[in-house]
Amino acid sequence: MDNFDNLHYAPHTKPGKQRQNSKFLLKLIRSHVTSVITSRRDDPDMHTLSSHWLLRISAVRWCLALAEDKYPTRSRCISLLHRDLPGEEMANSDRADTAIAFVYRGTFVHSTQQKALQILKDALLGVDTQGKIAFIEEGKELEKLSQTFGFKTSDITQLAQHEFFMPGLVDTHIHASQYSYAGTALDMPLLQWLNAYTFPVESRFKDLEFARKVYTQIVRRTLRNGTTTACYFATIHTEASLLLGQIANNFGQRALVGKVCMDRNDCVKHYKETLQDSQDETCRFIKELLNKKYPLVKPVVTPRFAPSCTGALLEQLGEIAKNNNLHIQSHISETLEEVKLVKELFPESESYADVYYKHNLLTDKTVMAHGCHLSDEELALFRETGASLSHCPNSNFSLCSGVLNVRNVLKHKVKLGLGTDVAGGYSASMLDAVRRALDASKVLTIQDPKYKTLSFEEVFRIATLGGSQALSLDDQTGNFEVGKDFDALRINVAAEGGPIDLIQDEEPKILLEKFLNLGDDRNIAEVFVAGRKVVPITE
Ligand code: GUN
Ligand code: FE
Repeated sequence: MDNFDNLHYAPHTKPGKQRQNSKFLLKLIRSHVTSVITSRRDDPDMHTLSSHWLLRISAVRWCLALAEDKYPTRSRCISLLHRDLPGEEMANSDRADTAIAFVYRGTFVHSTQQKALQILKDALLGVDTQGKIAFIEEGKELEKLSQTFGFKTSDITQLAQHEFFMPGLVDTHIHASQYSYAGTALDMPLLQWLNAYTFPVESRFKDLEFARKVYTQIVRRTLRNGTTTACYFATIHTEASLLLGQIANNFGQRALVGKVCMDRNDCVKHYKETLQDSQDETCRFIKELLNKKYPLVKPVVTPRFAPSCTGALLEQLGEIAKNNNLHIQSHISETLEEVKLVKELFPESESYADVYYKHNLLTDKTVMAHGCHLSDEELALFRETGASLSHCPNSNFSLCSGVLNVRNVLKHKVKLGLGTDVAGGYSASMLDAVRRALDASKVLTIQDPKYKTLSFEEVFRIATLGGSQALSLDDQTGNFEVGKDFDALRINVAAEGGPIDLIQDEEPKILLEKFLNLGDDRNIAEVFVAGRKVVPITE
């Protein structure tokens, strides 16, 4: 397996080198196939495949899937090969941990870089015991697959005609701490709203029992609504923020969790930290959360937004993120009043984006919420740094903040995900975010009929694969690519007692459109995160 190490040294920026990577991979695949075939011939026991050989065959299949990607980047090679490919030590032990855990047969819908909506009818998808997608192939390959992967055809679960699987929804921006007042307090613009409602409620999270109640409810609610990955803001309180991480881990949700940092608050004076505390507590939060070794929950450095932070704090947080290679989240250009305030507070910066840029807070692991009022130059800075945006249309309408021009963001090739922004957004469901994103796009078309309205397929991609890219988690989740974790929703469009009436059999594309526009949690029969069934929730 040491051949794979060479990939570490292959530069990933130049197309020529990427081509070398794919050639190298093809060579690798050939040598693996040869070794598998040779061993099958030589090994008298090979009529029943040992787990050792299942491991190796599955490795080969991954390589093959990878090679379909013409010029894989180094990071993709490494994530698909290194992360999960068994080393010699593992291969020599007779472990069965890449054996197939379960297989589904039926319709799968997902997005790829090339296609906003790819529909795979009568597909077979196998998940291994590590929770990863081992194969996704046409149903007619059943015999071959069951032999290769060693599962029995009686192990397969068949979906009904009105059912399908789609990737889990990725909420790229949600304030877990604001869930208690979701659906209320939507009568003020942002800066007044923060002072009147948000800061007083967030200050209550010093009380761990209150925190436990709210955080348990939000994690349960979002999971039931199909959010398999959430990027959470907590509050300034370290213990309560750690508790949110623990609760997400217990329920099996993939999550980025941020302890909020703010050393400036002139209106609600008791809800802020000193510069020193903010820095120390951020470091403690990161260390303690990482020490828990939760497989799916990671810390994210979280300056609330520029107006709540001094330049000194922003600088410290940029350093902390850089030194520990961490995710970063914040807000940017949500309202015009906020943009004006930032200009006054940071007169030395050329723009709002420049404030974050100057403090090393725009990286390829940064996600900034809103961006409704960013200039083209600022979007170019996002593109350059690899930072992404979270589009939160419910919040933008509810607080009358603005309407994000998604086409322009995509034109600038800035990574984009969707967010609920609870409680500026009143709904914790990503299905609502999908609908509001379509509405926002239609508002722009009403204002300018030449504006090309987003299609439901495009918004579907932003809510799934787009979100995973925005959070730099697309090597692990976002679609049904072989090697990724199985984060998925089993949708039953005709669920009994549900909100959708089907008059006749419909094509999968219609079923998806109906679910996105009309469905709710009653249609989400099962939710999987990294292969674990997390809905229905079992206590
Ligand atoms: N900007 C700074 N803090 C917040 C917040 O809690 N919600 C929203 N929507 N915008 C913010
Ligand atoms: Fe927010």
